[in-house]
Amino acid sequence: MNSRESSPMTSLGAPANDVGPARTLRHWLAHLSRSGRVAAIDKPVALEHELAAIAKCLDGTQAAFFTQPGGHAVPVVSGFMSKRAWIAEAMGVDESALLARFSAAAAAPLESKVVGREEAPCQQVVHTSGIDLHALLPIPTHSEYDNGPYLTAGLVIARNPRTGVQNVSINRIQVHGQNRMAILLLPRHLYAFHREAEAAGDALDVAIAIGVDPLTMLASQAITPIDHDELEIAGALHGAPLPVAQCVTNGVHVPAFAEIVIEGRILPNVREPEGPFGEFPKYYSAREAREVIEVTAVTHRRDPIFHTIVPAEMEHLLLGAIPREATLLAHLQRSHPAVKDVHLSVGGVCRYHLWVQFDKKREGEAKNVILCAFGAHYDIKQVVVVDTDVNVHDPAEIEWAIATRFQADRDLVVIEGAQGSPLDPSTTVGQPDDAPSHLQGVSAKMGLDATRPVVYPAHVFTRVRIPGQDSVDLHTLVAADNSAFDAYLSRDHD
Ligand SMILES: Cc1cc2nc3c(=O)[nH]c(=O)nc-3n(C[C@H](O)[C@H](O)[C@H](O)COP(=O)(O)O)c2cc1C
Repeated sequence: MNSRESSPMTSLGAPANDVGPARTLRHWLAHLSRSGRVAAIDKPVALEHELAAIAKCLDGTQAAFFTQPGGHAVPVVSGFMSKRAWIAEAMGVDESALLARFSAAAAAPLESKVVGREEAPCQQVVHTSGIDLHALLPIPTHSEYDNGPYLTAGLVIARNPRTGVQNVSINRIQVHGQNRMAILLLPRHLYAFHREAEAAGDALDVAIAIGVDPLTMLASQAITPIDHDELEIAGALHGAPLPVAQCVTNGVHVPAFAEIVIEGRILPNVREPEGPFGEFPKYYSAREAREVIEVTAVTHRRDPIFHTIVPAEMEHLLLGAIPREATLLAHLQRSHPAVKDVHLSVGGVCRYHLWVQFDKKREGEAKNVILCAFGAHYDIKQVVVVDTDVNVHDPAEIEWAIATRFQADRDLVVIEGAQGSPLDPSTTVGQPDDAPSHLQGVSAKMGLDATRPVVYPAHVFTRVRIPGQDSVDLHTLVAADNSAFDAYLSRDHD
């Protein structure tokens, strides 16, 4: 193994301008730990299923930190951004300002700051030959029918072969050889870069950064036009340019404070089988021929931490939800400024079901909002529009609005045969297993206008409320102990 070490860093390798709890993964984990939000599992845990099972049990309550995963010296962490409130905390804003903060960062990205290797903890140790990913890294197999170990939390970074501008995405990557991996590229920016390189007979250089802070993870999911480097959005979320280092075997720039970086090339005209793999809708993607990454180097911190996302758990769902919500809100507000808030529900896998809070002023407007939402992202399958007195983040409130303000013969919008998510298994019903991709994902769309009429007689649609309930101060009213109550009960009332 050709491994080299560079000069030592500070213990946590913190950048000098570190200001917030989410500056690096380590800072964020230390912050979570101080408030009891990290569960350290200090016993040997199998990489196949057991690790994911434990992380799943802790989902949304504590991050899981495994010190002995599959006999590896490298620990594994999972679930460190599995609550909306935690992500807001990482951003330093109230939960209600989450989408606005993300949108502001996406609108005003900060150019990254290139640092040398001596300032890049992710390159403290470098392997360029004899690479065996399974020996170097604790890569888990998550779900029952997954076809082996997968990288699920790596930021895949590549340059547009035409312009040189970087792109960042998270892609599932099956590690099916010592230095060979198959990657799922849905038709977006990375896919376009690869097709461009492939047409010229070239491989596409990539880097996969594993173990980055929550804000950089979130930025990777921004829905931007091509040629917007999501690392610059990460910089804006941090309030300071993101330090990046050039890879040792290619020209890609990676977050300098990543724990681990796998460098490689997506090969031209090579496809190898990948899957099945348990995906975010809680179903399996089929085994198909996918693009292949040949690994050219692995670099990492001296004592790296490996991050895995357990598919379909809250970390996975929220990573997709928040940037999408920010984009959907901005999209809807362009045509309908009276849209106040949006929410992608957990039951709708944070992708398919959109709830919209809207200040309706004219009849019919809610249906226009529904149609606008269908056009905003092909994943959106169901839209519910509610009034401003309904909390769009509370499933019980949405159901209440549907129960009391919606009539199916009058307020339902159904669009047949539109494009939906190819990962929604109900879209493929009636299709042969090997249906060509242009026939996959055909879906109906359903919109529910659950708003009340703009004008209504008397109190027909007035929400019941008790005067004074908002100003009750239970702290001053409720006795510190129940002695008066107990004394009352102990009296003889016979
Ligand atoms: C945990 C996780 C796994 C993902 N896996 C994939 C994947 O395998 N393939 C894919 O194309 N997108 C995947 N995505 C979505 C992309 O990362 C996301 O849509 C990204 O914004 C695409 O970037 P781009 O539009 O700049 O190419 C995943 C997202 C998350 C959060």
